[in-house]
Amino acid sequence: MKLLILCLYIIANLSYNGKASLESFMPTKDNMILADTTKGTHKSCSRPCKFNVKPRRCTYDFEISPSIEENGRPTLTINNLTPGPSIKVCLHDIVIVKVKNKVPNQDVTLHWHGVEQKGTPYMDGVPMITQCPIVYGSTYEYAFIASNPGTFFYHSDSVNHQSDGVYGTFIVDQPQPLEPHSSLYDYDRSEDHTMIIGTKFNELLTGRLEDINEIRPDNLVVNGDEMDTKIFVIQGYGYRFRFINAIALECPLLINVERHPMTIITSDASPVRPVITDAVRLYPGERMDVVVRANQRSGGYWIRVSGEGVCDGLNAYAMLLYSGFNYTNLLEQGPTAELEQDYETIIYGQQLRSLRDMSPVTKVKSVYLSIDKNAPKFKDSDIDFSYRSDAMSKKPFFPAVLASESVLQINGKNFLYPNAPYLLKSRDVNPDIICNVGEESEHKEPQCLQVLKAEANEVLDLVLANEGLHTNDTYTFHMHGKSVQVIATWENPTNTPVSKADFLKLYSEDLITRNARNPPIKDTVAVPNKGFTVLRYTPTFGGSWLLECRSCSTVLPVAILITVPLSIPKLVVDTLPSCGNYRPADTLLN
Ligand SMILES: *[C@@H]1O[C@H](CO)[C@@H](O)[C@H](O)[C@H]1NC(C)=O
Ligand SMILES: *[C@@H]1O[C@H](CO)[C@@H](O)[C@H](O)[C@H]1NC(C)=O
Repeated sequence: MKLLILCLYIIANLSYNGKASLESFMPTKDNMILADTTKGTHKSCSRPCKFNVKPRRCTYDFEISPSIEENGRPTLTINNLTPGPSIKVCLHDIVIVKVKNKVPNQDVTLHWHGVEQKGTPYMDGVPMITQCPIVYGSTYEYAFIASNPGTFFYHSDSVNHQSDGVYGTFIVDQPQPLEPHSSLYDYDRSEDHTMIIGTKFNELLTGRLEDINEIRPDNLVVNGDEMDTKIFVIQGYGYRFRFINAIALECPLLINVERHPMTIITSDASPVRPVITDAVRLYPGERMDVVVRANQRSGGYWIRVSGEGVCDGLNAYAMLLYSGFNYTNLLEQGPTAELEQDYETIIYGQQLRSLRDMSPVTKVKSVYLSIDKNAPKFKDSDIDFSYRSDAMSKKPFFPAVLASESVLQINGKNFLYPNAPYLLKSRDVNPDIICNVGEESEHKEPQCLQVLKAEANEVLDLVLANEGLHTNDTYTFHMHGKSVQVIATWENPTNTPVSKADFLKLYSEDLITRNARNPPIKDTVAVPNKGFTVLRYTPTFGGSWLLECRSCSTVLPVAILITVPLSIPKLVVDTLPSCGNYRPADTLLN
């Protein structure tokens, strides 16, 4: 582990203030522990992936900045684009993304949603956990190996920034014969056949303090457009489509292709046993790859994306166009009422089965996470609820929402971001703010840094219990670092609140149906209201990984931190930017 870390660091160091160039850290004979098998760097690594060819080093420059669209709507963009540039690489390529923050008064980080970050936990993009936030005017260089194939995306860790447009596709391909379902389709053209779905708001959410989860988006967009995305196919062929729900609000999406059934082949980048369906449901952060066969009458068909939850009533459309078809009329007519039908089958990721059978385990540690709304008592001194970044002015505000309303919590606490990045400087973290998961009640404050200490290769069953005493909502959670096996999803048929005692009884009596044979492998899961989702998690590499609800609250975080032992060489820690020690003069920024 140490070797890999050192080496990655050498291959792709972090040039923080621009002084340290890549070249100055190029491996020499002495420190080259793991060969950098790449030759030179490539701006675009998009290519057919072949066997026995060297991986590449793929570099991208991202500048995040505010922008105004043609229609006058403000957004946040990456290189003036939203969604940001698509990244497509081959398995084992080294991905280097230099992210420059040009959003005044905002700290940013980018999270690589679903990417394992084995050996590079400090590239996971969580502020004050895996890195210092990137302050206005500075640059952080993300560098990691694309170590698992599939459909991913990147987004700003901040829900506000992501909602304002900071997200994009990240696709890792592998040689076609390695794709378990390649026999089901003829073409896998991810550049043209990926649909990443986001939101648009008429006003910028960045900088707003209230809980934006209560704010309904004004539009849904597919690849940035409400209706303009065109997907071309040739009659008679099968195509792999990739769907990404890149929304950070509790906004599940139903996706259907008019008159074309879909065959689901992957969920959250993991292959599944193929299932045919009329429509799929994607929770925020989920991805799904499906096969669509162009076997209908040559013509144009609408792909309909409809929102649920906070996005209820919103729709976005893309066009499936057979080659040679004149789509002028279709465009003029717009989507027909016929599309507004109820679908016979709707499948979501947790209903699928993995291709891999689970190996038997002898010892499982069960961790119960009670999720519900509470009305904690905040003191006036609880004003600094957000992480501290010395580069930013302190935030002397206390949103009124906290004083009046209840907030969603795990085990009666909200997650408190530490004063120093936990992964890198755990000794600097104020011990008084830490509480152990399961022992939260020993902590007096409504917020604490909830830590679950796990050992490598330990088998944990994480029971996410959406108890439903004070809320009727479903919540979606994302696991950082490594995917989990979803062994049970259960919703109380009597629609009454559930408790730990209920869970223990039902589970021991086998009344909660579980799939212990071939559960789906996922990084994003929904927890039904008045129900349970049970995740089997076996950490195999070290790091500090969040299990977080991104769609629950933007005022007080709902998350726990799972730590898996790892020692990061001091050399690496010392080279990574430390918090708040660098601010270029504004004049240098332009
Ligand atoms: C497509 O249809 C429109 C409207 O019917 C027509 O004006 C246009 O010329 C057609 N385009 C082609 C290339 O045939
Ligand atoms: C949840 O739904 C039930 C039944 O419809 C209702 O009585 C209750 O007030 C709702 N609770 C909340 C917090 O909205």
